Amino acid sequence: MIPGSMDDRTPTWDLAVLVCCNQRPEGSRRGCCGREPGEALVGWLRDRSRADGLKHRMVIHRTGCLDACAGGTSVALLSASERSIVKVGPEDREAVWARVCDVLERPVTR
Ligand code: FES
Repeated sequence: MIPGSMDDRTPTWDLAVLVCCNQRPEGSRRGCCGREPGEALVGWLRDRSRADGLKHRMVIHRTGCLDACAGGTSVALLSASERSIVKVGPEDREAVWARVCDVLERPVTR
């Protein structure tokens, strides 16, 4: 990077939702979230954000390991008022969406 060339921009979105889609080989000691559950969740969250008119307020991306590998798909919620990783199973989709909506409604306190 050339010194003084860093371009610092304020995001246009309020919340980044990062969904782990990391796939380790079968039998890995660390386990993994797995690609298919993460991909399915990304699609579901994007559809839901469009349906609820909130797509413009967030980015929803696939990511690699978030270092919270066991017990479901890891989802990081990152905003000015939230910094957390939640574990999500297929039955938890509505709950994670409720959490997303809660974060978007939360006032920013610094
Ligand atoms: S493999 Fe998903 S958090 Fe580590």
